[in-house]
Amino acid sequence: MNNYKNVKHSWAEPFKIKMVELLKMTTPAHRKRAIVLAGFNTFLLRSEDVYIDLLTDSGTSAMSDRQWAGIMLGDEAYAGSANFYHLEKAVQEVYGYRFVVPTHQGRGAENILSKILIQPGDIIPGNMYFTTTRLHQELAGGIFHDIIIDEAHDAANLHPFKGNVDLGKLDTLVKKHGASKIPYVCIAVTVNMAGGQPISLENLKALRAYTQPLGIKIMLDMTRIAENAYFIQQREPGYGKRSIKSIVHEICSYTDGATMSAKKDALVNIGGFLALNDSRDYEEAGNLVVVYEGLHTYGGLAGRDMEAMAIGIYESVSDDHMKARIGQVLYLGEQMKQNGIPITEPIGGHGIFIDAKRFLPHLSQDLFPSQALAAELYIDSGIRTMERGIVSAGRNTQTGENYYPKLELVRLTIPRRVYTQAHMDVIAESVFNVYQNRKRIKGLKMVYEPKYLRFFQARFDKIK
Ligand code: F0G
Repeated sequence: MNNYKNVKHSWAEPFKIKMVELLKMTTPAHRKRAIVLAGFNTFLLRSEDVYIDLLTDSGTSAMSDRQWAGIMLGDEAYAGSANFYHLEKAVQEVYGYRFVVPTHQGRGAENILSKILIQPGDIIPGNMYFTTTRLHQELAGGIFHDIIIDEAHDAANLHPFKGNVDLGKLDTLVKKHGASKIPYVCIAVTVNMAGGQPISLENLKALRAYTQPLGIKIMLDMTRIAENAYFIQQREPGYGKRSIKSIVHEICSYTDGATMSAKKDALVNIGGFLALNDSRDYEEAGNLVVVYEGLHTYGGLAGRDMEAMAIGIYESVSDDHMKARIGQVLYLGEQMKQNGIPITEPIGGHGIFIDAKRFLPHLSQDLFPSQALAAELYIDSGIRTMERGIVSAGRNTQTGENYYPKLELVRLTIPRRVYTQAHMDVIAESVFNVYQNRKRIKGLKMVYEPKYLRFFQARFDKIK
């Protein structure tokens, strides 16, 4: 960097490309056939029929040369693998938790945590739900309550920390049910279903001050913690000069443990863990992990997976990495805004969320507007996106009624270190094409509904 004044310095990725994966180019006719065969559900498309895959940022990152080198250092012992100890050291150093139990991915950790801490009838408050997290809480007999601030349910609201907890909502729950019915508050960083929106450290500290005297734990869903730390660095007064690494450490310090899907922030294709500070909770987790995942030193993973995860954890908290990661998401979001596309704002950490209610105002929620829009985007250009609206929200397990979430979104999730700026341009153009023809979209009807997490496997037909 030089010291000239008033000159432009664009940023670019802090890596160069060593190997490429070739993509298949398809025609609109091919894609029309493929989406019908997939029951208008992008989860049921074959990946080889997809051009730019924005289904998820989960397990889709490009690993670094160091991580690939780590794969070769896999110690595939059944017990006490060297790679487990590397992972344990990374979790202790970077996040500050005392104990770590590896799991095959995030939901493995959610299952164990829910079984350890939740008694039937308990209340689990959280800053919005995540699909698998809430389901494991419910399967353990818990009842989830949303205590996120109201602003989070409004896609157009510009609050800088839409992941914040409304302490008033929590206080109402405590007064109604008693603190003893609330084993922990589940805090997500950043909040996926709200559009990748962060929680502030000020809010987390206030939550800690409220819950600690009541004996209520805070359990983090730390899946995208480095992205949350980036927003704190950029937006929260007093944190502008702090490193992502130190902010990540501080976030964890106000919590009692965490579940992690390492397939996101930690830059691996598979893996997760449960991290804990309490030795009794850890003992319980050790008892359960052998039932559901594997021995407590591998938890369903190969040694090489744990090595790649340990290295990925360190890479994920680099300031340069995070600037490029979120920078790419912001670039795409700005393109969309310039084209007048209604998206969740502020732009979130892991993707762009199109507001289908404003994109397709002529469709009621019963016509699955986000599901229909995701199908149209695929037909237009071969980009694969995901519904995050009424299909994902599912049904109330007690009454069987559909949830009608305020947010009806299509998620364009950006894998880490995978696509280029030119890919972002193609995506923005495709969304604009569909937007110009939006009145032609008529909606869908559901013709098959699975019992659990229906968005993964449900099938739809076009409304004629
Ligand atoms: N928590 C959050 C916030 C998540 O986004 C996910 C996964 C999980 C937990 C579960 O982790 O998949 O490793 O079992 N989210 C993916 C997504 C599936 O596409 O958003 P997992």
